[in-house]
Amino acid sequence: MVFLRLSVLPSKLAVLAEEYEPKMLRLKNKVAFITGGGGGIGRATAERFTEEGAKVIIAEIDSAVGKSAALSACKTGKSSGGDAHFVETDVSDSDSVKAAIAETINRYGHLNILYNNAGGSTLQDGPVTEAPVEEFWRCIKLDLFGTFLCSKYAIPEIAKSGGGSVINMSSNVALMALPGRDCYTAAKGAIASMTRSMAVEYAPDSIRVNAIAPSIVLSDRATKLLEASPEIQTISKTHLLGLGKPIHVAELAVYLAGDESAITTGQVIPVDSGVTIV
Ligand SMILES: NC(=O)c1ccc[n+]([C@@H]2O[C@H](COP(=O)([O-])OP(=O)(O)OC[C@H]3O[C@@H](n4cnc5c(N)ncnc54)[C@H](O)[C@@H]3O)[C@@H](O)[C@H]2O)c1
Repeated sequence: MVFLRLSVLPSKLAVLAEEYEPKMLRLKNKVAFITGGGGGIGRATAERFTEEGAKVIIAEIDSAVGKSAALSACKTGKSSGGDAHFVETDVSDSDSVKAAIAETINRYGHLNILYNNAGGSTLQDGPVTEAPVEEFWRCIKLDLFGTFLCSKYAIPEIAKSGGGSVINMSSNVALMALPGRDCYTAAKGAIASMTRSMAVEYAPDSIRVNAIAPSIVLSDRATKLLEASPEIQTISKTHLLGLGKPIHVAELAVYLAGDESAITTGQVIPVDSGVTIV
C-alpha cells in the first residue's frame, strides 16, 4: 500500500508542478500601446512589458524621452523577443492618435493592449475657488480626453485581434478626499467611472477594462511635486509601506495586460501603500 502511494505520488506531483508552473513569458505575442511611455511609470511598464515578450509602442509627446525609453525597453526585451518603438504622439489630438494607432498596426500587425497612462497633476492645481480655469481644462484634456481618444481609436483594433486589455490610469484622488487638487481629481474620478462603463460595453468583444489608482509614486515629476508641496509631504507620511516606485505600478500593469487577469474587469485597483485605508 505504501509502495503504491510512493509510486503514484511523484507523477501526481509532476502534474501539479506542470499545472502551477508560472508562464515564463506573460505577454508573448502581444502588442501594447503605452501612452506617456517615455516617463516614470510608463517607461517602467514598457521595460517590464518587453521583458515579458511584448512588442510595445511608446506613444509619447516628448521625443527625447520617448526614444530613450524605446531603446531601454528594447534592451530589457532582448532575450524574450520583446521589442519597442517610439511614436511621437499627442494623446489630446485626434489626428495624432489616429496616426499612432495606424503606425502600430503597420509595424506590428495587430493590437492587444492599450495603456492610457499619459497624464499628471501640477502645482497650479487647487480648490475649485482658486485653481485657474486653464488648469482644469489642461487636466481634462490630457488625462480624460486623452483616455477617451486613445480608447476610441485603439479599441476597434483590439476587438479585431480577438480581444485584450485596456488599462486606464486613475489615482488615489478618485477614491478618497484629497483637498487641493480639484482639477486633477475631477479628471481621475471621471476616468474611474468611465472604466466601469467601458468594461460593460466591451466585454462582448472580450476586452477587459481596468484602472490603476496609485498614490505617490516617485517618478521624476512626482518627486519634484513632493519636494515643492507641503500638502503632498503630509500625505506621504500616511503611506503604510513607504512611497511607491514606478516598478510597483508596472507589475500590476503586467498582470492586467496578460491572460492571468482573464476575469478581472471594471475594477479600479489601488497601488497605494495602504493610504486609502487609514
Ligand atoms: N507619480 C505619481 O505619484 C502618480 C500617482 C497617481 C497617478 N499617477 C498617474 O500616472 C501617470 C504617469 O505618471 P508619472 O508620474 O509617471 O508621470 P511622468 O510625467 O513621469 O510621465 C508622463 C509622460 O506622459 C508624457 N505626456 C505628457 N503629455 C502628453 C501627451 N499630450 N501625449 C502623450 N504623452 C504625453 C510626458 O512627456 C511624460 O513622459 C499619470 O497619468 C499620472 O496622473 C501618477
